[in-house]
Amino acid sequence: MALYSETVMDHFRNPRNVGVIEDADAVGEVGNARCGDIMKIYLKIADGVITDVKFETFGCGSAIASASMATEMIKGKPLSEALTLTNKAVAEALDGLPAHKLHCSVLAEEVIKAAVKDYYDRNGIPYDPADFPEEHDCESCGL
Ligand code: FES
Repeated sequence: MALYSETVMDHFRNPRNVGVIEDADAVGEVGNARCGDIMKIYLKIADGVITDVKFETFGCGSAIASASMATEMIKGKPLSEALTLTNKAVAEALDGLPAHKLHCSVLAEEVIKAAVKDYYDRNGIPYDPADFPEEHDCESCGL
């Protein structure tokens, strides 16, 4: 069996939503402590709905595919729904990632949460800090 699914390869070769939104309403940036990769996401938000999203990543192929898929999954969705997106759901939508690459999809989940938090902070919107845990530590969870 191939190491990567066709879906992963498609999103790696033709990543969706790559780029920068200059007048973004929210920006999130996270790094993976384990591999040193970085992911950044830009959101346009209207009435609590994500109307546009772009990402940049200095990351591996799995990180690119994860970000591409994750941005597709949250585009047009309310922020509350974007917050519930898990790395597991992203990996499943990609038809799986190799076990040692699952941590790359964590970056995609975290960067969305970071951007939503940025939006809440910018606009003085109250939130439950429990929805925004400290940065994921791959070493501790074993991913
Ligand atoms: Fe760093 Fe994949 S190896 S995000």
